[in-house]
Amino acid sequence: MKSKIKDRPYVICHTLTSVDGKIKQTIWGLDDHHKYFEIPAAKIKADAWLVGRITMQEFSSKKKYDLSKGRTDIPKKDFVAPVKAKTWCVVIDPSGKCFWDTNKVSTETVIEVLTEKVSSQYLDHLRSRNVSYIFGGKEKLNLELVLRKLYKLFNIKVVRIDGGGHVNGSFLKAGLIDELSVVLAPLADGTIGSLTAFDAEEGYGKRKATWFKLKSVKKIFGDFLWIRYQAV
Ligand SMILES: NC(=O)c1ccc[n+]([C@@H]2O[C@H](COP(=O)([O-])OP(=O)(O)OC[C@H]3O[C@@H](n4cnc5c(N)ncnc54)[C@H](OP(=O)(O)O)[C@@H]3O)[C@@H](O)[C@H]2O)c1
Repeated sequence: MKSKIKDRPYVICHTLTSVDGKIKQTIWGLDDHHKYFEIPAAKIKADAWLVGRITMQEFSSKKKYDLSKGRTDIPKKDFVAPVKAKTWCVVIDPSGKCFWDTNKVSTETVIEVLTEKVSSQYLDHLRSRNVSYIFGGKEKLNLELVLRKLYKLFNIKVVRIDGGGHVNGSFLKAGLIDELSVVLAPLADGTIGSLTAFDAEEGYGKRKATWFKLKSVKKIFGDFLWIRYQAV
């Protein structure tokens, strides 16, 4: 799959939801809930997967690093670690809250997406672990700029956004989703105020909903549906 969009990766958002759009499987009673997300995800060819800070903290270090002795003179410039990697995992971590023991999650090599709010000592931590990082803005992230940097600096041509709801919602709101991959679980969750596949903003503002065109639909895992949509 090739991006038709110049200078940025093709973006596929992949999500596992209940029929009411909820994404936390807390009360779903699934045997091995990871497989329902991961097995279809693995069939989507991509150079990188991208998640929000909260989702990545399931994979990053559980240690709390003491940064007080770190360097204080590191400039707020993109850093491409000298590593050979074919596939990447990217975390949207504007304030630098993820810590790393290594620069890998499974076989993928980590890229941190930061704002200039982060400290030099945090950058020192990332460099000490050979973790690459890019800046997506001073205080707020410009997601289009982030995508362009992923394309230019890491040759990422296709990126799969793997959640959670906030990161999906912010790419949706920015109009940067080219394709949607939904694994629809045959259950109604029914919780009020819990996370949904796209948590873009509160209430009804001026934004219009995003429409998609059906590409394919397949029955999987018994009564689950794997639905693929193309952006209109
Ligand atoms: N069912 C599924 O398909 C699926 C997939 C993935 C995850 N999940 C579940 O979803 C839950 C996490 O979802 P979540 O929505 O709470 O969190 P999330 O999307 O994983 O992470 C949200 C955080 O990422 C940062 N962030 C994301 N977009 C940003 C933007 N445009 N600008 C600035 N910062 C941005 C912020 O970090 P800061 O707070 O540091 O500013 C934000 O609080 C977990 O329970 C996880 O297991 C479900």
